Amino acid sequence: MTIKIIMDTDPGIDDAAAITMAINDDNIDLKLITTVAGNVTVDKTTKNALKLVRFFNSDIPVAAGAKQPLIKPFEDAARIHGESGMPGYVFPDDLPKPMDKTAVEALRDAIMANDQITLVPTGSYTNIALLFSEYPEVKSHIERIVAMGGTLGYGNMTSAAEFNVFTDPHAARIVYNSGVPIVMVGLDITMKALLTPESLEKLPTLNETGKMLHDIIIHDGDNSDKGIAMHDVNTIFYLLHPEAITTEKMWVDVQTEGPAMGETVGDIRGAYHNGKTNTAVCVDIDAAEFNKWFIEEVSHISK
Ligand code: RIB
Ligand code: CA
Repeated sequence: MTIKIIMDTDPGIDDAAAITMAINDDNIDLKLITTVAGNVTVDKTTKNALKLVRFFNSDIPVAAGAKQPLIKPFEDAARIHGESGMPGYVFPDDLPKPMDKTAVEALRDAIMANDQITLVPTGSYTNIALLFSEYPEVKSHIERIVAMGGTLGYGNMTSAAEFNVFTDPHAARIVYNSGVPIVMVGLDITMKALLTPESLEKLPTLNETGKMLHDIIIHDGDNSDKGIAMHDVNTIFYLLHPEAITTEKMWVDVQTEGPAMGETVGDIRGAYHNGKTNTAVCVDIDAAEFNKWFIEEVSHISK
């Protein structure tokens, strides 16, 4: 049984790796890619998504989305992902065109045509929030949202907030209060499952896809001597290998103002929401299994 998904993305180096896995894994049926301003502007994230679709000769549609957050001014992460958002590899330049509809329209159409689909946002949640505001009827047709973002622990934008949620906390609050079940794939696991130097070294020896991923990943500024964070790829790993990830159910609220703006606050004792929960928070991961899977996934890609 394949898993029907839509990815809402801001490629972005780790988004590119996640999109690569989703396009090529036979257990995933990627129906649509939408793009949002985040790591770089939405024009660049859209171009990068089209480059990946073209690289794999895929006919998956791409629709461009929000140019800026709902309320906050837009602030990119080019310092991490480079000015282009996907540096280091020369992609074909005969790119397909994006859909001639907005991401919100494309999301609504794809959800209504694929009941009980899974949404996989790997950038800020602006498009999803706009979708829920304009077309609330789609919510009952979404099985779950497997979202890269948030943290119960240390942030990467402030000590409290992770980039995707920090970029548009107002959108994140709309999504977390939507009633659609959420799996929070946050820094609590993505900073554990780093792509190790050994894995990185193997990539270019596997195939052209491995070379492409290696050549862009080495530019990722989110790195240390222990490895490189592949935040967004953890959403796809979760979909395919949930047994390798530990989750805890709790209510998660999003701070939208003050010094903790963008913080995802977990009601870890169930003390403030009468035991109600809205999120399965990923709290632990088998990092060795993630690396083994990452290399196996790429090695099975025919390009
Ligand atoms: O905090 C990590 C997230 O921010 C990832 O989605 C990365 O691509 C950036 O968008
Ligand atoms: Ca991203």
